[in-house]
Amino acid sequence: MPQVTYVQSDGTSQTIEVPLDENVMRGALYNGVEGIIGECGGGLSCATCHCYVDAEWTGRVGAPQLQEERDLLEGVAAERRPSSRLSCQIAMTAELDGLVVHVPDAQY
Ligand code: FES
Repeated sequence: MPQVTYVQSDGTSQTIEVPLDENVMRGALYNGVEGIIGECGGGLSCATCHCYVDAEWTGRVGAPQLQEERDLLEGVAAERRPSSRLSCQIAMTAELDGLVVHVPDAQY
């Protein structure tokens, strides 16, 4: 099963196995990762699943494909960066095994 490492702003991290066909937001929620809220359950209407994709991974994860994600990223609570993504829109694939994402300071 592919693994994702969630890094908090204080440098602590959790590495979690996230099943294929799940997404990075649910991997965090199901395993108690703080700072990823996922209020809308992945419905692309809240932006509380904001994360920063680690620089090593931005190429493989890619940019937001949906206009809805791009629009929501305009209003995230924490600083928006080029590596910003909504974690509910990052589907787990075998190619993303080892993915590292950083959790923002705020989701509201
Ligand atoms: Fe609401 Fe991702 S969980 S937009």
